[in-house]
Amino acid sequence: MQLNSNAPVTKHNILITTNLDLAKQVLSNDGIIAIPTETVYGLAGNTFSEIAVNKIFALKKRPHYNPLIVHIKSADWLNEVACDIPDAAMLLATKFWPGPLTLLLNKKPNIPDLVTAGKPTVAVRVPNHPLTLNLLEQLDFPLSAPSANPFGSISPTSAEHVYNYFEDNLEVILDGGECNNGVESTIIGFENNLPVLYRLGAISLEDIEKVIGEVHTHTKNDKDPSAPGMLSRHYSPNTTTYLADNVVELINLYPNKKIGLLLFKDLVRNNPVLHQEILSKNGDLSEAARNLYAALHRLDKLNLDIIIAERLPDNGLGKTINDRLQRAVEK
Ligand code: TXA
Ligand code: MG
Repeated sequence: MQLNSNAPVTKHNILITTNLDLAKQVLSNDGIIAIPTETVYGLAGNTFSEIAVNKIFALKKRPHYNPLIVHIKSADWLNEVACDIPDAAMLLATKFWPGPLTLLLNKKPNIPDLVTAGKPTVAVRVPNHPLTLNLLEQLDFPLSAPSANPFGSISPTSAEHVYNYFEDNLEVILDGGECNNGVESTIIGFENNLPVLYRLGAISLEDIEKVIGEVHTHTKNDKDPSAPGMLSRHYSPNTTTYLADNVVELINLYPNKKIGLLLFKDLVRNNPVLHQEILSKNGDLSEAARNLYAALHRLDKLNLDIIIAERLPDNGLGKTINDRLQRAVEK
């Protein structure tokens, strides 16, 4: 598939393109498109169109209790969607937007309940991708967008990943190349005006705390719909996946299986595995995050019996990657 050219690539009825006019046309008519962001691709529609937002939930097969992130063109738009904004939220917005930070704030009444799953809060961010920022500049509504994958699957970090999931059930995929950060945004909310981490993401907790001090962690609780971002099983390959501190030990437990490995920086020598993916041979955690989902997508296509993923160092973005791997292996 030819990607990233100006001429739209037609796959059956779908257009993989950089043409913003086509994107605007679909969005302005209650349609949905895939958009690139610096984190992962999103499945986007007009926040104020009930038809479009319903299409997102339907195509993604996402339960309606799981709310969507509202993407705005700049921090100036924050007051259009949210109110009672804590000072710490403003500090974070100033420091990290456009960028991979989502803020959970009290919502304005104009934000449909469908988008926020009936919650009093709205998740909002300014994505840092030139094509999508340019698109947002030209629209007079924000874009609601979850990651562009079927509910529970590995997030897409290229137009091709999106196409492989939805084929021609989507009219337009805006092709912005491969996502720079490669893991979803960090989500920070506020409880009694104190910052709370809802989801580890592309900005490390350490970097957030440098700006606003200590951040509490929302306790993981699948049964509590007030914390849908914390669903355990998520980001999952179809292939059975294990997370290992000692990869060789686990390989030895499965002598007759077709095994694929997802490793941080070093290959495993002298072992009968079929395929090995290295996330960053220099041990760079940002590079590892950027490569994570593409490597999982590749492994998942190989008809393996099992994937063994190596746990990364538990600091900075290593924490985020370990969080995603942990959710990928949950049953
Ligand atoms: O990087 C990202 O954040 C990507 C790109 C496309 O922007 N989006 C993304 O969306 O990861 P999604 O829907 O896959 O994950 C958003 C998470 C969900 O787990 C959802 O439950 C949570 O944010 N969320 C959204 N609104 C919320 C709210 N009002 N309260 C609690 N959690 C919320
Ligand atoms: Mg998602």
